Amino acid sequence: MSAPSTVLVTGGAGFIGSHACVELLDHGYELIVVDNYSNSTPQVLTRVERIAGRFVGAIYELDIRDRHALSAVFDRHSVDAVVHFAARKAVGESTRMPVEYYDTNVGGTTALLRVMHEHGVHQLVFSSSCSIYGDAGSGLLDEATPARPTNPYAASKWTCEQILADVCRRCPEYTVLCLRYFNPAGAHPSGLLGEDPCRTPENLMPYVAQVAIGRRERVRVFGADYPTPDGTAIRDYLHVVDTVEAHRVALDHLADGPGMYVYNLGVGMGSSVLDVVATFSEACGRPIPYEVTARRPGDVAELVADATAVTRAWGWRPSRDLADMCRDAWRFQQLNPYGYAGSARRPNLKR
Ligand code: NAD
Ligand code: WQD
Repeated sequence: MSAPSTVLVTGGAGFIGSHACVELLDHGYELIVVDNYSNSTPQVLTRVERIAGRFVGAIYELDIRDRHALSAVFDRHSVDAVVHFAARKAVGESTRMPVEYYDTNVGGTTALLRVMHEHGVHQLVFSSSCSIYGDAGSGLLDEATPARPTNPYAASKWTCEQILADVCRRCPEYTVLCLRYFNPAGAHPSGLLGEDPCRTPENLMPYVAQVAIGRRERVRVFGADYPTPDGTAIRDYLHVVDTVEAHRVALDHLADGPGMYVYNLGVGMGSSVLDVVATFSEACGRPIPYEVTARRPGDVAELVADATAVTRAWGWRPSRDLADMCRDAWRFQQLNPYGYAGSARRPNLKR
């Protein structure tokens, strides 16, 4: 099996997907992007093309659960591999809308698999999440840590992993690389791409950025009574550009052989909520106001990756730190105070 050259990216207009598109275009891949823009806008892809200096091969507005529409895309293009980002990703929302989360994340993945199967496409890079580990206690979490999802979002990702593992066990033609991201953050260094959720950010870094630019009054620090050095919760923040570089390296390794391979993506070092607030304050040159509030239900004290397996397997390791993430996120926020809203709509380019 040779390395892929035409890659279909689901959710390519999203936060991580858009950065991945830049990375893959920069490395000569032909891209087909599908997205329903439920948490993104088409303008993002114009920016992707501007940064890369190349067009995305084709862009389709569709829902991955729509097998007929997806199948028509596979009929039209000779796809070698799929990088599957499209999903709903807000943990809190998933507790209020579990059916929507299972339908999009699990149903979307099985619809995609079915269409891939029908078209003889057997190479997949899948976005999983550290949230599948649940409340695993302190210490570095390696890939053998038992999955104990505590919310529908995490359960949907774990269900997808189990389905993909079973397919790989039964169908030897498949190669699936499953990447469990810890906390991707930051933005493209150009300031043109970043994290711009359609609703109020649930994640810490985009919330802090919106406080820094004056869109929100203060950061609410969810709990300062955790058993951690400063009392606030610790996470493993990974620059989004490092995250997508790992996907580019993953594509090279799809050719290594069949089966399912699971790797954590993290830096292997934790930062507390107050570390993030302080580092962002340095990046933007003024103190970020914050108040300590109650713990957020379902949060855990500490989640940090043992990310050595992927380095051993592929030689990939992250090269950017929290200061880089805050600096880049701040640049994006300054250049796009209201996110992508207001930028020109993507013209209907003839291809
Ligand atoms: P995002 O919401 O920014 O991007 C997801 C993209 O998928 C969006 O453009 C959205 O419009 C699209 N989409 C959603 N449902 C769709 C559907 N049914 N059909 C077609 N397109 C659809 O999220 P992100 O942060 O870029 O996350 C990408 C992937 O990584 C997701 O699978 C997420 O679960 C996973 N992940 C994210 C994080 C994180 O902290 N950002 C951490 C771990 C895992
Ligand atoms: C980080 C820390 C909060 C917002 C989730 C998913 C995980 C992955 C990343 C998708 C926590 C604290 C947050 C705020 C705060 N996503 N916080 N004030 O919860 O670690 O992970 O997103 O897969 O799977 O579970 O990320 O950015 O929401 O929170 O104090 O306004 O910041 O309590 O300790 P989390 P986060």
